[in-house]
Formats: sequence, C-alpha cells, structure tokens
Amino acid sequence: MKKLFILIAALFTVGTTIADEGMWLPALLKNNYEDMQRLGLKLTADQLYDINHSSLKDAVVWFNGGCTSEIISDEGLLLTNHHCGYDAIANHSTTADDILDNGFWAKSYAEEKSNPGMWISILVRMDDVSDRVNKALEGVDAKNMDAKRAEIFKQIESEATKDNGYEAMVKSMFKDNAFYVFVFEKFTDIRLVAAPPQSIGKFGGDTDNWMWPRHTADFSMFRIYANKDNKPAPYAADNVPYKPKRSLAINIKGLNEGDFTMIYGVPGRTNRYETSFGIQLAIDKINPAIVALRDVRLTSWKEEMNKSDSVRLLMSSQYAKIANYWKYYIGQTEQLKHLKVLEEKQQTEKQFTEWTKTHPEYASLLSNFENAYKDYNDYALHATYFREGVTGSSLIAFAASFTGLEKALNTDKPNADDVKKAVNAIKAAEDSFYKSFNSKSEEKILAKLTQMFYENIVASQHPEYLTQLVKKNKGDNNGETFQTISKKIFDKSFITTKAGSDKFLDSPSLKKLQADPAYAYFKAFYDNYIKNIKPHIDAFNAINNAEGKKYMKALMEMQPTKNFYPDANSTFRVTYGTVKAYDPKDGVHYNYYTTLSGVMEKEDPKSFEFQVPEKLKELYKAKDFGQYANANGDINTDFISNNDITGGNSGSPVMNGNGELVGIAFDGNWEAMSGDIYFDQKYKRTISCDIRYILFLIDKFGGATNLINEMKIVK
Ligand code: ARG
Repeated sequence: MKKLFILIAALFTVGTTIADEGMWLPALLKNNYEDMQRLGLKLTADQLYDINHSSLKDAVVWFNGGCTSEIISDEGLLLTNHHCGYDAIANHSTTADDILDNGFWAKSYAEEKSNPGMWISILVRMDDVSDRVNKALEGVDAKNMDAKRAEIFKQIESEATKDNGYEAMVKSMFKDNAFYVFVFEKFTDIRLVAAPPQSIGKFGGDTDNWMWPRHTADFSMFRIYANKDNKPAPYAADNVPYKPKRSLAINIKGLNEGDFTMIYGVPGRTNRYETSFGIQLAIDKINPAIVALRDVRLTSWKEEMNKSDSVRLLMSSQYAKIANYWKYYIGQTEQLKHLKVLEEKQQTEKQFTEWTKTHPEYASLLSNFENAYKDYNDYALHATYFREGVTGSSLIAFAASFTGLEKALNTDKPNADDVKKAVNAIKAAEDSFYKSFNSKSEEKILAKLTQMFYENIVASQHPEYLTQLVKKNKGDNNGETFQTISKKIFDKSFITTKAGSDKFLDSPSLKKLQADPAYAYFKAFYDNYIKNIKPHIDAFNAINNAEGKKYMKALMEMQPTKNFYPDANSTFRVTYGTVKAYDPKDGVHYNYYTTLSGVMEKEDPKSFEFQVPEKLKELYKAKDFGQYANANGDINTDFISNNDITGGNSGSPVMNGNGELVGIAFDGNWEAMSGDIYFDQKYKRTISCDIRYILFLIDKFGGATNLINEMKIVK
C-alpha cells in the first residue's frame, strides 16, 4: 500500500504525459505529436487534422449520435459496428426475411436499404471559442447562468452555420474551463449495405460482452447518399452515393505486438476527474440500483423472447441495449473495488489538500464537495429509481409522452394547432413503441419495479399516490399487492394497445387522459420528482459544477507541465498507443489476438450465443481464406491495444502509423471496466475486430466482391 502511495504521488506531482491514456482533441494534437512519432506514427500532424486540405478527419464519421464509423471507399461506403447498426438491421428483419439471423449483403446499390431517422455527421472544423464564451459569462450570477450560456452558445452556433448548410454545437471542455465549437455536415439518407448474421456479428453474446479473449466480427456497413451536388438531402430514390473528401485505405498485412495504433472517434462520456465522494456513491448505491432494476426487465423480456422467434426479433434490440449497460455497471463496480480506485482518489485528494496549504483559494474545495454529497445521496438514488425504475417500465415511459398533450388540453380554450402537434408527436412514436411492446412481460415488470421503489426508496420521498395505491390494494404480501396494482393498470389503461391509443387520439379529452391509470401513475411519480427531489438534485449540480470547474483548474495549476485531456463528451478525439497483450491475473497471460480456430473452439450448438453458421465452418475446414490468412494459415479475428476509448467509440477506425485501416474498435475488457473513471495502465485495453476477418467475411462468406472492389487495399 505504501509503495502504491508513493507511486501515485509521483505520477501526480511530476506530471508528464502518460502515453496511451488520453482522448485528445484532434486540433490540439501538436502537443502529442512527438510522442506519437516515437510510438510509430508516420504522418504529419496536418495529415491527421487540417481544415483547408483533406485529412484523416474527413474519413471519420459520427454515426447516428452514439457511435463512430469510417468512410472506406470513394462511393461513401461506411464501416461501423454490428451493435451500432443493430436497430436498423433488426428493423428490416421479419420471420420471412430475417436478416438479423441470416445476414445481409447488398450486391448492388439498388439492394441497399434506407433507414428513416438515421443520420451521420462529418466534422468540418473545430475552433476554440473559450475567450468569447468566458467574456459573455463574466459576472453573470448563478440564477441567470444557464440562460446566458445557452444564448452565447446559440449565437456562436448560428454564426458558424450561416449560409453554409452546416450544423454546429458548442461544447464545454475541462469542466467549463474551455469551450469549442464543432461544425458538421450532416447527412440523413443512410442506407444499410451489409451485415453478417448476428451469430457472427454478436458472437459470444452477453456472455463474452466486455470480455477478452473475444471472437466477434462486430461490424456492419452503410452508405452515405447525397443529392446530385454531393450535398446532404433527405432520402430520395435518385440520391447518389456521396463522394467523400477522403476515404481510408485498408492494410491487410497484419499487426504485431508493439505496433502503433491510433483510434479516431467520438467517445461519449468519461468522468476521469471524479472525486472520491462520487465514486463512493456509485459503488454503494447507484450502480447496484441500476443493475437490480435492469435485471427485472431483462429477466421478463427473456422469458417472452424464448417463447417465439417473432417476439425475439421484435424485442432483441431493446434487450441488447439494456443488457449492455447492465453488465457494464456490474463490471464497473467490481473493478472500482478491485483496482482500489476509491483509495487512489482519496490519496490524490490528500495530496491536493497538502498543496492547498500554499494555495488557500482552493482550501474549501473538497469539503464543499463532501457536504454537497451528504445531502445528495438519497436524492441521487431516487433519481436513478425514477429513470431506471419508473420509466424503466415501457408502459409508463410511453405514457410520459402524453405529457405534451395534457398540457395542450389543460387550458380553458385549447388551441387546436397545439393539440394536433401533440397528437402527431405521439403518433410518430407509436409504431416503433407498439412493435416491441409485450404486455405479458411488461405487466410483471411494472409490478416488480413498483415494489422495488416502494421498498428501497425512503418513505418520506414516496409520492402520496403510491402510499394510497398500496393501501387500497393490500394483498397477503408485497409481491401480491404490487401484482394487483399492475394488473389493474394494465386492465384499464388505453395506452396498453395501439388501438386504444389511436381511439383516444382521434378525439382526445383531458378528463380521459387524466383518468388513465398508466398516465396517472407517471404523473404522480413525475410531479413528486419535480417538486420534492429535483430541487435537491439541481442544488447539488450547481455546487458540483462550480466546484468541479475550480477543481479542474486547480489540478492544472498544480501540475503545470502535464498535458491534460478533457473528459469525453461526444466530440471527436484521437487516442494512440500500441498493440499489447496483458496478464489478467497472477499466472495467466492473454495473447494480443484471437483466431478463427478459437471461434470453432467456442462453438456450442446448444447456446444461442455461440452458434457458428455452417458456411463459416465449411470455409474454415477448406482453409479458404484467400489473401486474408495470417502466417500460420488461420484468420486473425480480434486484437487488443492499449488505446483509451469508451462508449461512442464503437465502430471507430483503428489505424496504423500510415493512417491505414487495420481494425474497428468495438469494446473494452472486463479487468478495466472502471476505465471511464480511472485509466489503469496495466489492464486497460481496447478490443478491436481485425480488418482481415471483416474483409474475409464480406468476400468469402457474403460473396460481396462488389464491396471489396470499391476499397483501396494495401497488401
Ligand atoms: N460492449 C459493447 C459496447 O458497449 C457492445 C457490445 C454489444 N454486444 C453485446 N453482446 N451486447 O461498445
């Protein structure tokens, strides 16, 4: 322990860049450039990011708000993860044409499938606007801060997009110590081009998820379509493939341990400068609550999905989404404990307190945090129960979408336009909601979630409505009480069926809506939340933001020579490192790559998660690997490197020192699941799919040589 302390203290005060850790802003890469060269980068800094000439950034594409993708041909062909395209793939699947299970390979443009609602954005530029924002916010008091901030953001955004058809967003960095505007070109005609069967694209399922060694080909392909002028346009049959400024060449020579890897993408969220108080709360309360609440949904959904294939197809996308972060929070908690992150943070804070003796302006910082957390704890748990519990019920979540309509109806003379708008908003969401809504499982889920809320949230925070419900429906035990409550809601609510909702929406009435038990349930919990809980959360956030900003600034002052990176916030970043094996525990070594032989080893015909399609087995037996084989005559499937990624990086290009595509990132590893809060040098790895496995599948398994022919392949 002592040794650990000294080591941390040294890291903390000497303050050099630690290679591999860091999600760097592309426009500021000049500070990392020497380090990148030392590790193997062969490109100039301008080749990575340049706003006047084409550079790598032009080939990296923000995918549908939650993932990353890359352009790999001059016809706008996009590569991303299977789990990023999952929704689209599942949407196109029926029991008659089940592309989720069988795969899909478009052999011509005409076969590519459109996806209403899907969008991608290409980064045009990013600029530092800190001075302007800071000046506008100077002297603004806490009460007016949010409004003033929104105003200056909007002003900068509209200037950046004036007359150019672009979109822009101002983003805060370093906890409000800096601000950048990001300008994008956004496209909305995005068509599905290819996906392997999910037995390959999601091989290993939830069992292997967040784990190494891995054998998944987590990829799918789309294409960007533009109008005849190569500009964004809504879907139209005669739109044409987008001609990009830049596409990535693909290198199939393979990787060795120690090779340079660079990942360009859009990481969603990290919390690397979190205090020990926040970590304590996550470990003790929030993470276990999320896991327990999600368990309820997953168990009931699974029961129904196991009963029929058509139900499984309809529900599998929502199941995958909830299961992914259910397992994430289990892992995060486990590793926060195992890697003693709390203790490390506490040591760091001790050092900080020492330092404040000569910097008294920061002396009260940590105790301010500590006090804020004291009040926040129980309210934070309530907020989690509201999000994952109350609206964790699909029925209640959908009932919530009637709020706008209630507002429009709840005046002396309702405005017909407002009512119509509210009705249309609900109607627009109906199809996708009812498609995957399964009453049988949802009735059980609502019963259980309500019971958990009742038992685990302090009574003083309960809505009066809940107290009354329980009184009126008292059964022999809590389980029975809550089953009765849920059954009554499901029996009487018109929201449980599309026919019921449609009938109501044809002639909406305020009285009917307010009397609906599902809507009343939502309203009661929501009103209680807004009135009694949210003020505490807001008060906490105000302190946490203000102190967080100061804390960040102080940390930077304390380590003036350290090259800091801002937390991930869904903006473009670059991370670099090398291909690297690791030892997950004493006596165990994990290789840095896996192979197709390993897929065959893992095959288990009895498990849905470990099926291997017949055709893949034939190719394997015949060793029909073409130009994609490794030196041993096998296929490399996945590999690991010590790059610093998180959710949102899914689908990101992994590039070699020449900026050529060698893989796509798709996951993190179990031993470093605490990575969003703390980057552990020893364990943290990025899991990527080897580009040779992907090309082999497109070419030999899918027979889509048309796609291979579009690509620039470096042999
Ligand atoms: N853990 C991956 C990520 O968040 C998603 C993997 C999807 N696969 C799955 N079995 N759920 O990027």
